[in-house]
Amino acid sequence: MKVLGIETSCDETGVAVYDTDTGLRAHGLYSQIALHAEYGGVVPELASRDHVRKLLPLIRQTLVDAGMTIDELDGVAYTAGPGLVGALLVGAGVARAVAWALDLPAVAVHHMEGHLLAPLMEDDPLGRPEPPFVALLVSGGHTQLIHVEAIGRYKLLGETLDDAAGEAFDKTAKLMGLPYPGGPQLAALAEQGRPGAFRFARPMTDRPGLDFSFSGLKTQVLLAWQGSDQSEATRADIARGFEDAVVDTLAIKCQRALDEAGCDTLVVAGGVGANKRLRAKLQEMAARRGGRVSFPRPAFCTDNGAMIAYAGALRLQAGQHVDESVRVTPRWDM
Ligand code: KG4
Ligand code: ZN
Repeated sequence: MKVLGIETSCDETGVAVYDTDTGLRAHGLYSQIALHAEYGGVVPELASRDHVRKLLPLIRQTLVDAGMTIDELDGVAYTAGPGLVGALLVGAGVARAVAWALDLPAVAVHHMEGHLLAPLMEDDPLGRPEPPFVALLVSGGHTQLIHVEAIGRYKLLGETLDDAAGEAFDKTAKLMGLPYPGGPQLAALAEQGRPGAFRFARPMTDRPGLDFSFSGLKTQVLLAWQGSDQSEATRADIARGFEDAVVDTLAIKCQRALDEAGCDTLVVAGGVGANKRLRAKLQEMAARRGGRVSFPRPAFCTDNGAMIAYAGALRLQAGQHVDESVRVTPRWDM
């Protein structure tokens, strides 16, 4: 089964073809980062308009890259939420139109389920991780620990009470004057910082439970930055202190979640999953426990069409599809 996947929930237009026999055939991504940079964040209406401009050419190109024509498709999957309503409607409208014109089944995919299943798409020397496992979803909008009992059966173990981890990276970068989008830039800067030069709290790790809170950390960084000489070297040291605090906090809670759920396997997904130090720390923790951790390749940690094509293919194979209405769900619990 060859499934076209379409992702337009925020500021990336993503398209891919996933073949359930041979794996990922092709994927294409158009990022709107440059468009939103001068505003310091995503402008929803500009995002929708750019998806309108970019989606059809990207579908055409991805089919060329996959070496196939559109009538060889067997199904269409699209992100139906959560996300920006106008942006979601572009992907949903095009996906429904393609499915209708070719008389194919279409399936609505939850964006976070796409992220969650992305690590399962990768070739892993240890084989594909099989449920039950614990998933850490860390993106710009979510920080959640989920017990994946089976594909489609998810139990929320804990989540952030305020900022998501990616949001904390972005806001902290902004308050130290780094350009949008700050998260990856802050992580790059942290590479040059000295460990331990600044030490910030590991929020909520001193009490039981699997919830997170990152907004206080941002305030600690603000105070440290304002009270410093604000030199390049200090900015790098603070970035390192902040990154270490977030990474330690996530690792402590992941270990706790694995212990509580009685699982050996951790799966990590979402934009912050691209963070090198987080990857290394979680590898170390998993090895210590005698378990394993799986990540998508960094390009599939952030938003992409491949994860939607893959999650959609699993749902279509299970016989699920949607009717012909174009519906999106901007706020949607998994
Ligand atoms: O999953 P994603 O592309 O979009 C959402 O669904 O939110 O995640 C984007 C988030 C942003 O907050 C970005 O700053 C963060 O992931 N991010 C990173 C890194 N790369 C992306 N945070 C820390 N280190 C990175 N290397
Ligand atoms: Zn995302």
